[in-house]
Amino acid sequence: DYTATPFVPDRGGLTALRKAAANCRGCPLHREATQTVFGQGSANARVMLIGEQPGDQEDRQGRPFVGPAGKLLDRALAEAGIDPAEAYVTNAVKHFKFTRSEPGKRRIHKAPSVRETKACGPWLAAELALVGPELIVVLGATAGKALLGSSFRVTQVRGTVLEEEIHGRRERLVPTVHPSAVLRADDREAAYRGLVADLETAARALG
Ligand code: URA
Ligand code: SF4
Repeated sequence: DYTATPFVPDRGGLTALRKAAANCRGCPLHREATQTVFGQGSANARVMLIGEQPGDQEDRQGRPFVGPAGKLLDRALAEAGIDPAEAYVTNAVKHFKFTRSEPGKRRIHKAPSVRETKACGPWLAAELALVGPELIVVLGATAGKALLGSSFRVTQVRGTVLEEEIHGRRERLVPTVHPSAVLRADDREAAYRGLVADLETAARALG
């Protein structure tokens, strides 16, 4: 099956990890995407935010959460009292998956499959091991399933502090909706307030 494992170095820290991830061919997603979008932030970050996969802007710029969803997330974090610059930000899947309605037309985000998410999991596991955050903010269903398994339901656990064993480490997690879901919501303001409220729970858990 697909897996990133043979590409993940077992030493060298975040710098070595990022460099190696640029050459990952652990699943087919590297073929169509522009580049690997690895996590960003300090190895000493107290909080790790985990999204789904890079979007169009992230794929072009090579950095996570720099597009519209990222702008909204930064605003919500600041409002909740979490400095976005002090967080480590990454995604469950490191390559952009997309379709086009017609050749040459705009690229439309496509959700990664369970196989692709599993294949990319070793990168996320390595990031977690190196950063060792005090708290994980889970942004949406893909990240939740990647960390906690297929039974994860964001609506059931959002805004709560979970304690789970992940890759042999006891982790505290606060799940919330994905910022892209806020952008798509019928009542955007209510969805945004909900995101901020969940992030306030995360801020309190961080202390
Ligand atoms: N959505 C994500 O899940 N991650 C990004 O980096 C951008 C948008
Ligand atoms: Fe490797 Fe993940 Fe990209 Fe697949 S999506 S090629 S596993 S980095």
